[in-house]
Amino acid sequence: MNIEVFFSPREVENEYDLREKSVLAVDVLRASSSIITAMHHGARQVIPVASVADAMRLSKDLFEDSTMLCGERGGKLIEGFDLDNSPASYRPERVKDKSLIFTSTNGSGAILRARYALETYVAAFVTVSAAVGAVAAREQVAVICAGEENHFALEDAICAGMIVSRLMEKRPDATVADGARAALMVYDRCSENILAAVRSADHAAVLEREGFGADVTFCATRDLYTVVPVYDGTVIRSVKQGKRAAV
Ligand code: MLT
Repeated sequence: MNIEVFFSPREVENEYDLREKSVLAVDVLRASSSIITAMHHGARQVIPVASVADAMRLSKDLFEDSTMLCGERGGKLIEGFDLDNSPASYRPERVKDKSLIFTSTNGSGAILRARYALETYVAAFVTVSAAVGAVAAREQVAVICAGEENHFALEDAICAGMIVSRLMEKRPDATVADGARAALMVYDRCSENILAAVRSADHAAVLEREGFGADVTFCATRDLYTVVPVYDGTVIRSVKQGKRAAV
């Protein structure tokens, strides 16, 4: 196995380079955590899109009562949308059996960047063991961190490092590229207290200020769920751990 970590989607120079790779798209705060929560609570599918305009356009072609517009800009609910990007908003009574059109500042971009990958999973602390299990038998694994406006984000790097660490335990034969080695170093430095490290991140401070402190704690919690959302290049659905997604 070879493991790479990209600290922002922009580091993936050519999206076709991912064709032979199994990708884990990580946006701990908060897109990945919200999408995973939605799938756990029975959402039928999540359709990631790049922009608010794309989301609006797409929603016109879908059945209104079974489709919701979800996501954020500036961390807040978008005008005309049904749900913001707080995992707490993705409650079963809101999302069960619904199709969610989803756009966020960084997270949806990381997922879309992997549209040509061999397979793509949405990963975060809340389902980290299941996500690692989904790719543990693969030969080429790439973690794409959403980062923040195309820059490094600490919380994603810590999660990526945890994924690398867990994969190396399962696959002692694994080779790691420099990005994965760096993520591992970041993770090793704070593995004793993940919550404190995530709380110290820039984006966590913004969320705390905006009244979303509970989201930060939630998103830093490991293995709340076992669902692993898989993106087929168009929509995200959930697969049971151990079952390879149809690609
Ligand atoms: C993003 O995609 O940039 C984030 O999920 C922003 C947020 O915390 O809502």
